[in-house]
Amino acid sequence: MSSESSVALRDLTFCYENAPEPLISDLSVHFPPGFTGVIGANGAGKTTLLQLVTGALMPVAGTIHGAENTIYCEQRTDVPPVGFADMLEDWGSEAFELRGRLGIEFEYLERWHTLSHGERKRAQIAHALWCKPAILAIDEPTNHIDSHARELLVANLKRFQGVGLIVSHDRDLLDELCVQCLWLEPPNGYVYPGGFTHALEQKELGRDSAIRERRKAVNEYKRLKRETVRRSDKAARADSDRSKRGLSSRDSDARDKINLARVSGKDGQAGRLLRQLDGRVGQAGNRVQAAQVTKQHETGIWLPGSRSRRDMLFELKAGKIPLGAGRVLRFPQLSMKPEDQVAITGLNGLGKSTLIRFILTRVNVPLEKIIEMPQEVSAVTAQNILDQARTLPNEQLGQVMNVVSRLGSRPQRLLESKQPSPGEVRKLLLALGMARSPHFIVMDEPTNHLDLPSIEALEKVLADCPCGLLLVSHDQRFLARVADTSWHIKGDEQRNSVVIV
Ligand SMILES: Nc1ncnc2c1ncn2[C@@H]1O[C@H](COP(=O)(O)OP(=O)(O)OP(=O)(O)O)[C@@H](O)[C@H]1O
Ligand SMILES: [Mg+2]
Repeated sequence: MSSESSVALRDLTFCYENAPEPLISDLSVHFPPGFTGVIGANGAGKTTLLQLVTGALMPVAGTIHGAENTIYCEQRTDVPPVGFADMLEDWGSEAFELRGRLGIEFEYLERWHTLSHGERKRAQIAHALWCKPAILAIDEPTNHIDSHARELLVANLKRFQGVGLIVSHDRDLLDELCVQCLWLEPPNGYVYPGGFTHALEQKELGRDSAIRERRKAVNEYKRLKRETVRRSDKAARADSDRSKRGLSSRDSDARDKINLARVSGKDGQAGRLLRQLDGRVGQAGNRVQAAQVTKQHETGIWLPGSRSRRDMLFELKAGKIPLGAGRVLRFPQLSMKPEDQVAITGLNGLGKSTLIRFILTRVNVPLEKIIEMPQEVSAVTAQNILDQARTLPNEQLGQVMNVVSRLGSRPQRLLESKQPSPGEVRKLLLALGMARSPHFIVMDEPTNHLDLPSIEALEKVLADCPCGLLLVSHDQRFLARVADTSWHIKGDEQRNSVVIV
């Protein structure tokens, strides 16, 4: 690993097969040592870019220099990283220390499918760091992980000396780690120095000045057009004066000269000025074309939820749920009224998702009145959800896609996608559920994978929603805005159990 290495993209273009247009077009970027934050809406191509840089995908055109000894640390947690066993079996002191620092246990490989997604994330990151890559491309590393694991992660990433590309919706993480940010707005990308906050300021400043430039260019264009009309009138009047200077209508030679002068405006001062002006109007038109401002799509959604008429959404007597490896989750009597908004909190692996699944088998609400957003949706399930959406009648599909669009993703690209991105799938699930006017919304880590404007739209829609909410999240900012009650799960070492307090 060398701190001198860097990666350069030159005129990179990429288009998925069957996609309506290129996702990336003529992108040239330099990635210096340190982390570059890769930012953009869901479906903007962040994962695709990381896969291009690490060689998992090939560009359609353009080149990538310096991308040797690369690792892509996946966004999805469906399967363990390739070579994970080698890391577990490395008894060297460095590997031993790294496993200890990130809390990785030997059984993780065989227990992969029973690990929590937070545990899987830590395992992926530990493996990526163990490989000691020169180029580390890391996709949504803080998804699912609790505050303690996040601290460990940041400390470990800060030690990384090579070229890093990091995709994250965690603004604080980007601020702490990044030397620059690459903002993807398909098919273009823009680089800004500094972390997220600084990049956002620069981007907005740039947008404000682009708006001012465009306004100026449009005003100048309109002024010149008005001037052209005024001078054409003047030239026409001059023509008509000349034709009245007693030339005989039978004098065909003279008549031809006048006609020629009318067309070319060659014979008068007004005509000359008009020709000059035509050139300036053309240039002003070009300046308007060049001063394009990226269009901002209208965002924000309204959720047609309603309150269940039942007394309770569910009622559980005190009990326990097995968590595997001999551990149990003990819970007191738990219930929710139709309007309650409950947050379940606690560290990774304590059984938050297990509790949610357990509750969902005991609810008093018809299935079609529940929106359930699981913590992760596998690639295969994501395809099935999209296939089902494609079969909806046109009007319904239009409504669903309108929500997806108002959450900031492109419906056309999603509908033609072979592999919807994790953020796109979440938006689709939400849109499909909204169409059923839900009574109960159950979401496990809903802000994971979502881009920042959608998180804000979701916060707002849930805060205003009249139906019951049961949410698991490590995002305190989000919970503070949408939940009024908290059930906190914590470990109880002595009884090998976890309890809700
Ligand atoms: N194999 C594929 N064929 C066609 N389209 C694809 C394919 N894989 C991804 N896409 C589409 O390309 C776009 C970019 O996908 P990508 O996964 O790179 O987005 P992303 O920015 O990482 O999104 P997210 O924030 O949700 O992770 C999306 O619209 C996606 O649906
Ligand atoms: Mg992605």
